[in-house]
Amino acid sequence: MAIGSEVEHWDVVIVGAGIAGLAAAIALRQEGRSILVLEKSSMNKEVGALISLQPNASKIVNGWNMTPFLEEKKPMVDEAFRLLNIEGKLQVEMKLNTSQFGADRMLYHRQDLHDALRQAATSDDMPGSPAVIRTSSGVLGCDCDTGVVHISKGSSVQGDVIVGADGIRSAIRDEVIKGSASEGSKAIPTGLSAYRILVETDKLPKLDISEDVFSLKRSATTMIVGHDKRVIMGPGRGGEMFGLVCLVPDPNPNNEGTSWNNSAPLKEVLEAFAAFPAWVKEIISHAPDVALWQLRDIDPLTTWTKGRAILIGDAAHAMLPTQGQGASQSIEDAEALQAYLSDIGKEASGQDIQERLEAVQRARYDRASLIQAYSRLQAKPAASQDNKTVKLNPQEFMEYNCNYSGAKNWVERNREAEEMAYKQTAARA
Ligand SMILES: Cc1cc2nc3c(=O)[nH]c(=O)nc-3n(C[C@H](O)[C@H](O)[C@H](O)COP(=O)(O)OP(=O)(O)OC[C@H]3O[C@@H](n4cnc5c(N)ncnc54)[C@H](O)[C@@H]3O)c2cc1C
Ligand SMILES: *[C@@H]1O[C@H](CO)[C@@H](O)[C@H](O)[C@H]1NC(C)=O
Ligand SMILES: *[C@@H]1O[C@H](CO)[C@@H](O)[C@H](O)[C@H]1NC(C)=O
Ligand SMILES: *[C@@H]1O[C@H](CO)[C@@H](O)[C@H](O)[C@H]1NC(C)=O
Ligand SMILES: *[C@@H]1O[C@H](CO)[C@@H](O)[C@H](O)[C@H]1NC(C)=O
Ligand SMILES: *[C@@H]1O[C@H](CO)[C@@H](O)[C@H](O)[C@H]1NC(C)=O
Repeated sequence: MAIGSEVEHWDVVIVGAGIAGLAAAIALRQEGRSILVLEKSSMNKEVGALISLQPNASKIVNGWNMTPFLEEKKPMVDEAFRLLNIEGKLQVEMKLNTSQFGADRMLYHRQDLHDALRQAATSDDMPGSPAVIRTSSGVLGCDCDTGVVHISKGSSVQGDVIVGADGIRSAIRDEVIKGSASEGSKAIPTGLSAYRILVETDKLPKLDISEDVFSLKRSATTMIVGHDKRVIMGPGRGGEMFGLVCLVPDPNPNNEGTSWNNSAPLKEVLEAFAAFPAWVKEIISHAPDVALWQLRDIDPLTTWTKGRAILIGDAAHAMLPTQGQGASQSIEDAEALQAYLSDIGKEASGQDIQERLEAVQRARYDRASLIQAYSRLQAKPAASQDNKTVKLNPQEFMEYNCNYSGAKNWVERNREAEEMAYKQTAARA
């Protein structure tokens, strides 16, 4: 199968060591299977933000025997989703618990989750052969038929399977969709931006707000909505940190260069949220720094696979963060790779591999595309112009999002119903 002895061969080459790539490395671990993860960055600094794992994704992760790596990261169980209006009055409290969805919704510091996944992917103490991660190895492109992956600095490797987990600006995506109806698809600005803030909880003063309405110590997610702006916030790392994501209409929609880590002046955030409760502005005013992140997503692609290559995570279905589903969908993708490639060995032909990757896509495509569409719907103004009526209904999508029992089970379910729901949502969007 190797196309030339001079090219280094691996059973699986994963491009990108984000949450999707690392989850895939863990999911694909098998005795004797060689897995290489190529990562562009030096992996010294991950985005500082909080991240949630939806009930089913957290259950998949629990099934990977990586609890020891996660436990020391002080994960928190998200016990409720609380929605407040612009005056700070509680509108809805949605209690979240294990009995409802068969698993907990977990809150992590993004760096911690990333770190735990990295440890589990490369550890000798996990089942199967450890994966190898090569940092500072940006991939330029690949040949989906031969499995050759071109790395900057002029070197190449070859994989029987290529997993494109290189995020929203994926290089592998360009190769996979070449010649398809999606050719040339890029990340598109959504008209929204987010200010991201992370503070150490014990640096915050006592807030002038009744604990019944809001408490920094409560293990819950709180959202405050005013017409076209919203703040989503909650604790992380065992309560040591408190994180806020403040959504606003994109102040600079045509700015091509905007990245997720541009810093923004505190004054700008406080002005944007002037109409919000004073105690929220009090938290914001203690931010050590503020990052401004232009939110982009992609339209559903017509294909995620070509030859030996498959796209997963944001590369396949980047979505708005309005449902906190990006990481969870990546983990569901990784579980699907595990389910369909578990009995694929070194003797498998290119045709066998292509068929399995297509099966992964069939299992995952409708659900991920629908959650992409839901995330856009959830991004519409959450309150009326005068802020008197809150329009957002968090319960609406929760059941669909969380009722997932793995790729193969999903396929068994009634596809017709899914297609109907997708068409209806697409029509509404
Ligand atoms: C601040 C922030 C907050 C978020 N909050 C939530 C949340 O609460 N809940 C949730 O579910 N999701 C959240 N998300 C989204 C979530 O992080 C992503 O959807 C999820 O991590 C899947 O990402 P990924 O691994 O596919 O891509 P990324 O995380 O973008 O990882 C891609 C990796 O590939 C590397 N790479 C890129 N190009 C190349 C190349 N050419 N060669 C080699 N390597 C390359 C990148 O350096 C990166 O390490 C958040 C995202 C951000 C940025
Ligand atoms: C993001 O920006 C902050 C402040 O400007 C900086 O301290 C941090 O290192 C940056 N993170 C990354 C991953 O570039
Ligand atoms: C869990 O959630 C369900 C449904 O919302 C609710 O009926 C039940 O009382 C909750 N259980 C606990 C222990 O909170
Ligand atoms: C409604 O909320 C928005 C924040 O998006 C604010 O700018 C506006 O002033 C508020 N309007 C009223 C009438 O309170
Ligand atoms: C989950 O999905 C199954 C199969 O489609 C359905 O029968 C069940 O009612 C759903 N459960 C919830 C809680 O939505
Ligand atoms: C997902 O949640 C459902 C309950 O809604 C549960 O039956 C199922 O086992 C869960 N799936 C996984 C993979 O954890």
